[in-house]
Amino acid sequence: MSEATDTLNGFEAEQASTPRVVVLISGSGSNLQALIDAQSYDELGGEIVAVISNKADAYGLKRARDAGIEAVALPHREYDSREAFDGALIKVIERHEPDLVVLAGFMRILTPRFVQRFYGRMLNIHPSLLPAYQGLHTHARALADGVSEHGVSVHFVSEELDGGPVVVQAAVDVTPEDTEDSLQQKVQSREHLIYPIAVRWFLEGRLTLGAQGPTLDGTPLPPQGLRLSHADAAEELDEDLEDDDA
Ligand code: GAR
Repeated sequence: MSEATDTLNGFEAEQASTPRVVVLISGSGSNLQALIDAQSYDELGGEIVAVISNKADAYGLKRARDAGIEAVALPHREYDSREAFDGALIKVIERHEPDLVVLAGFMRILTPRFVQRFYGRMLNIHPSLLPAYQGLHTHARALADGVSEHGVSVHFVSEELDGGPVVVQAAVDVTPEDTEDSLQQKVQSREHLIYPIAVRWFLEGRLTLGAQGPTLDGTPLPPQGLRLSHADAAEELDEDLEDDDA
């Protein structure tokens, strides 16, 4: 074999082995941006090959195009039923042959067929410390309850809405000054930190979902996943810890 052929084969093998990610969004796509940024620093462990939105005007589609990623609008309103839409979505996703499907603010209730199709290779991010505050308006509900701690969870998707096995969580302190907006901002800063980490774990084969639940490096994860502490996250984000400790 000539040296040129050898090099070409090596190149092709490397191309073939890059894990493929499809991201589903419905809105702004700030989590998508965090994933795109991680990919640009070679820290995602794979390549985002397509971004699909059920809303044609989602800003995240522009983020995808700007990054040179295929952006697909698949408006759910054009389908007669949830089953028909999810069937079409499965086809579009599968065309891209993903190793992982990432839900990043994809605000749709999924049919069992859809969940089963990607079970064990589909992650979601949810703005609460699950199992607390499944569903919508998580920040307002946390404030109304007067909790001192709130946060975000990344979990494998199961048929139970926001109820799948949790992989990792990050907490934020809730202060008396917090509003829904300020809490959302705090939580989103943690979202942007932990989602690329969880995606990378999966794409590197370190994170799997087995019959007994999720494991990281072969070790079963606790029921609420790994917890990134407030201090760990603040350090990563270069936040002033003194204020928070006061
Ligand atoms: C994120 O805060 C995410 O946690 C939430 O939607 C937002 C999307 O923001 N997801 C859910 O509530 C899912 N139940 P983004 O479009 O800027 O990433």
